[in-house]
Amino acid sequence: MNITEITPFIGLELTGVGYDDLVRPEVWEQLVEGVRERELVVVRGIELTPLQQIDLASRLGRPVPFVISKYRHPEFEEIMISSNEKKGDKPIGVARVGNFWHQDSSFVAEPAPFTMLHGVNVPSTSGHTKFASAVDVYDRLPEEWKARLADRIGVHTVGKRLRIRPEHVGLSVAEFKALIDVEHPKVEHPLVCKDEYTGREYVYGSREYMDSVAGFDPNENEAFFTLLDGLIQDEERVYTHRWTQNDLVIWKTRTTYHIATEVEPGVGRTVHRVSIEAVDAEVQLVEEEVQ
Ligand SMILES: [Fe+2]
Repeated sequence: MNITEITPFIGLELTGVGYDDLVRPEVWEQLVEGVRERELVVVRGIELTPLQQIDLASRLGRPVPFVISKYRHPEFEEIMISSNEKKGDKPIGVARVGNFWHQDSSFVAEPAPFTMLHGVNVPSTSGHTKFASAVDVYDRLPEEWKARLADRIGVHTVGKRLRIRPEHVGLSVAEFKALIDVEHPKVEHPLVCKDEYTGREYVYGSREYMDSVAGFDPNENEAFFTLLDGLIQDEERVYTHRWTQNDLVIWKTRTTYHIATEVEPGVGRTVHRVSIEAVDAEVQLVEEEVQ
């Protein structure tokens, strides 16, 4: 087994490990520590069955079934299939997921803390995933902006990214927007947060999953989003994950910005995704009941 830091800013990479190696306590501890300290862990080329992937996920927390049932794995509801491939003429998963910079599910009140992807069928020439550390983004904010953003609240929404579905045909744009606000209420998070493991500060929010910074006027919002986009997308700081077959990629959702890049036409790509909830809260509850 070989372990290396991917860039000075983000990521730890493990090579030469199989499932049986990874579940050995001393190896698993290094992986968990890597996720906590480096935000992102890549295990190169590890063959996994869906059950083994779910098993690994359950060692980090509780795998959560994907909200849209038709995109769940036919046998394992915890796995969401991200794919542009078809079986017959039916899509086997969701295509074009996350093709903009974001932190996973920041538009919900309590986003699951970890995401895990397994590259089941992945081209190496396109369909890369780019990552940037939200801790590093915070560190690079100009001091005046750090002062302006301290104690600010970010208003998050999925509204900019919702897809028009067949039942929306006939709605006016205003009606559609009103419906979004009812079905997906905006949520608020502090704009600058502290990582619970490392104590490091990070920016929580992105243009595509945010409505605004509470109290900012439209010009201030635009200035903030433009600054943020520039910091996130700085190629000097971005890690581009070029997939190889069976890569396993795990990240902390709050401190990791990422984007899926386009897949070239005519090329199939399938990734199995598991979203992982924290179990700490429940463990605490159980302990309290025991006392
Ligand atoms: Fe994502």
